[in-house]
Amino acid sequence: MDKLLGSGASGMVYAAKKTSTFQNVAAKLLQGKASDENRAREVRFLCAVGRHENVVRFLGIFDNVLPSVDSQACCLLFDHYACGDLHTRILNTGPFQGEQAMQAITNLLMGLCHIHKLGIVHRQLSPENCLVCGGGTIVLSGFGSAAFVTERELLMERVGSLGFAAPEIYKRQPQDMKTDMFSAGITLFLTLSGQHPFMGRSPTTTVRRTLTGKVNWTAFGIADVNQHVRDLLANLLSVNQHIRPSADEALRQFRSWRMA
Ligand SMILES: Nc1ncnc2c1ncn2[C@@H]1O[C@H](COP(=O)(O)OP(=O)(O)OP(=O)(O)O)[C@@H](O)[C@H]1O
Ligand SMILES: [Mg+2]
Repeated sequence: MDKLLGSGASGMVYAAKKTSTFQNVAAKLLQGKASDENRAREVRFLCAVGRHENVVRFLGIFDNVLPSVDSQACCLLFDHYACGDLHTRILNTGPFQGEQAMQAITNLLMGLCHIHKLGIVHRQLSPENCLVCGGGTIVLSGFGSAAFVTERELLMERVGSLGFAAPEIYKRQPQDMKTDMFSAGITLFLTLSGQHPFMGRSPTTTVRRTLTGKVNWTAFGIADVNQHVRDLLANLLSVNQHIRPSADEALRQFRSWRMA
């Protein structure tokens, strides 16, 4: 294992090389017995999502990777996305514009269409959980909190990151695919403007603004963005789950505007 690529709630991710093929990979190190169940869930969802150009490519799992330190430790192996996560990319190169912005919207919606068709709710969608390929394609990653839409009890749990979690999560109402669509709206807003529509000085302010759902479009430099894209973002950021389009509807609308 080589340099640290990033870290999150469930583990540290390192750049590594597969000795058999010399392939560059990303190795997510998961340690401790307590995370056994989470690990099994993440692997289950990574296998369930299968191969798709807008979903992280999972290569396999290695058990017992640190036998002298932690007999429970294991590594999840992924393709290494050399451009890192979308959050870091926006910080380094600024908001996406023009064709790059259009591609980001398409990629995110296509990834969501794929997982939603399989009955999977991601539940942690944010720029940190989107990775960027060399060619600029965006893939969904970070499936550690995913759930099947049929897991009703789980879909009542408080989950998601502050600022990206949908209003229904704070209201303790059931989550579904539309919960991901709200997080997609925030992620795209940030990608296009470099700013967060609801982030406040304190967590309480952020939650209050999220629950109100009022966006001051002119304050974010997003007023210059195409009117159709702004309408799409406004619908995705609706407090009411029923007003938010599904990934499939959003993609169809977006493509028809682009072709018109
Ligand atoms: N395949 C990869 N290629 C490059 N960087 C990666 C890769 N996978 C993860 N990273 C980096 O590591 C960070 C943490 O990874 P990941 O999101 O999988 O872990 P986590 O946040 O602990 O888990 P989860 O999001 O499932 O709760 C990412 O935000 C990203 O910066
Ligand atoms: Mg993550």
